[in-house]
Amino acid sequence: MRIGPHAIDPKVILAPMAGVTDKPFRLLCKRLGAGLAVSEMTISDPRFWTTRKSLQRMDHAGEPDPISVQIAGTVPAVMAEAAKYNAGNGAQIIDINMGCPATRS
Ligand SMILES: Cc1cc2nc3c(=O)[nH]c(=O)nc-3n(C[C@H](O)[C@H](O)[C@H](O)COP(=O)(O)O)c2cc1C
Repeated sequence: MRIGPHAIDPKVILAPMAGVTDKPFRLLCKRLGAGLAVSEMTISDPRFWTTRKSLQRMDHAGEPDPISVQIAGTVPAVMAEAAKYNAGNGAQIIDINMGCPATRS
């Protein structure tokens, strides 16, 4: 299976789960055989990117490819900027969440 240029091998994907799929958990799941492990939900609004939670959620240093980040939001231009920002932090695949019932994350 491929997403763009990225091979998802094996075809076992860890779904994004806020409060669960943090970096240690993603690394563990990839080590145990996940082909892709999506980040926790990250916020698209740049005003929150410097909070402790966002800094942790947007950190992908040392994470094996492919790196997938979920971005939550509804405004296309804001989402586009957030995608670029996360790509700058290592994201290779962007997962868009436009309908999460959870409160701001
Ligand atoms: C604790 C928890 C947190 C979740 N957080 C997110 C999230 O942040 N973003 C999202 O798109 N889905 C979230 N989900 C939904 C999961 O990604 C997944 O779609 C759902 O658990 C169904 O998975 P399944 O089809 O493998 O059973 C969450 C689910 C759980 C249980």
